[in-house]
Amino acid sequence: MSIWHVTGGRPLRGSIKVQGSKNAVLPVIAASLLCPNETELLNCPALSDVDAAVDILRYLGCAAEHRSDVLRIDAAAPGRCDIPRELMHRMRSSVIFLGPLLARFGEARLSVPGGCELGPRPIDLHLQAMRLLGAEIREEGDAIECRSAALRGAEIPFPFPSVGATENAMIAACAAQGSTVIYNAAREPEIETLQEYLRLLGAEISGAGSPVIRIEGFSPRPRAGLRVPSDRIAAATYLCCAACAGGEIVLTGTEPKKLVPVLNALESMGCALGTGFDTIHIGAPERVASPGAVVTRPYPGFPTDAAPLLMAACLKGRGPAMFIENIFIGRYRHAEEMRRFGADILLRGPMALVNGVPVLHGAAVTSPDLRGGAALVAAALGAEGESVVSDAGHILRGYDGLDVCLRALGADVWRE
Ligand code: UD1
Repeated sequence: MSIWHVTGGRPLRGSIKVQGSKNAVLPVIAASLLCPNETELLNCPALSDVDAAVDILRYLGCAAEHRSDVLRIDAAAPGRCDIPRELMHRMRSSVIFLGPLLARFGEARLSVPGGCELGPRPIDLHLQAMRLLGAEIREEGDAIECRSAALRGAEIPFPFPSVGATENAMIAACAAQGSTVIYNAAREPEIETLQEYLRLLGAEISGAGSPVIRIEGFSPRPRAGLRVPSDRIAAATYLCCAACAGGEIVLTGTEPKKLVPVLNALESMGCALGTGFDTIHIGAPERVASPGAVVTRPYPGFPTDAAPLLMAACLKGRGPAMFIENIFIGRYRHAEEMRRFGADILLRGPMALVNGVPVLHGAAVTSPDLRGGAALVAAALGAEGESVVSDAGHILRGYDGLDVCLRALGADVWRE
C-alpha cells in the first residue's frame, strides 16, 4: 500500500510545469488502434492509468514504448479483439476501448466494472451509441460482446452529454459507412483533442467543443503525431494546494481558458490570480473567503473532478461553502476523511456544506479515489503537524509526480 507523509504549515512558493492531460491521452491511446502504423504522443504523462491502457494495447498485439514523455504505439497488426477482466478492472475508463475495437475488428469482447469508488458506472449510453451504429450487443453478467459486419452512420442523440460515450461514438463512427451526427455531445476540451487526433488519422470530423459532432468518413493515414495538451485538473489541483497552504505559485504549460470556473471560484475566495497565454499565477490570502455555492456540471460548468480540491481549499475558509455534486453520486468519501483534520462538513445527498474552521490539525486519513486522494494531500498541506495519507496509490492514476512538484514548491510531502 502506498503511504504519503505530509507536514503542513509551509506556504508554497515557486513555479512548476503542468503535466499532460490524463483524460485527453486515454481516449487517444485507445483510438490509436485505428492507425494502421505508428502513433507518437508527446507530453504523455507517466500515470498508472496510462500504463494500464498501454498494457491493454500490448495484450491486443500492438507494440508500445513509453520513454520520458513520449509514447510510441505501433498498431500495425493487433491480433485480438478481447480484453480480459483483470485488465479492464485496472482502469475505470477502460470501456473507451469498445469503440476502437469495434471499428478495427468489427468485434469487441470485454467486461465492465459493475461500479467504482465514485458510485455505479453504467455504460448504457456507450452501448446505445454502438447499437445505433449497427452493432449487435450481447450482455451476460459483466461480459459484453459487440459485433457488426459493417457499421453504418447514424444519428446519435445522447440524453446526457457523457464524455466517454461521446468519445466511443466518435471513434466507432470513423469506421462507419455514411455520416454520423452526435447530438448533445460532451463539450469537454478532451473531446477536441480526440477530434484533432482522429483528423490526423484521416477522419472527416467536425463540431467537437459544441453539442453537435459530425463524422462524415474516414480514409486511414499511416502515421500520426500529437502533443498531449496540459491537464486542466492537475492545474486546478496545484492552484487549490496553494489556496490550502498559502503562498504564491506560478503554473506554466497550462491553458487558463479551460479553467475559467475554477479560476472564478478561487478569485471569489480572495486569491489573487493572473493569467498569461499558458501561465497562471496565484497568490493565496492567509484565510480564504467562501466561494458561495459550487455546483458541478458538464463542461463548461464547474468540473466534478476539481470539486474535492476546491473543497479542501474551503476547509479553513471564512464562512460556509456549499457544494452540489451533479455528476457522480458517490463522490463525497473524501469529505468523511477530511473531518479527521477537524473540518466541519455536513453531508446531505448530493450536497456538502463546509463550515470553515480557523485551524486544521494533521491526521491519518485514507485516500478514497484519485481526486479525493489529491484533495486529502491538499488539505494536509494546510493542516498543522504531520498527516499520513494511506491507500495513496489512487493518486498515481492521474498525477505525474504530484509529490515531486509539491516539494519543488517547498512542501514537505514524502512517499513511503
Ligand atoms: C470522464 C472523465 C472523468 C470525469 C467525467 C465527468 C475520463 C477518462 N474521465 O469520465 O475524470 O469525472 O468524465 O467529467 O475522461 N453515465 C451513464 N451512462 C453511461 C455513461 C455515463 O449514466 O453510459 C453517467 C455516469 O454514471 C455519470 C455521468 O454519466 O454519472 C457522467 O459520466 P461520463 O461523462 O461518461 O464520465 P466518464 O467519461 O466516465
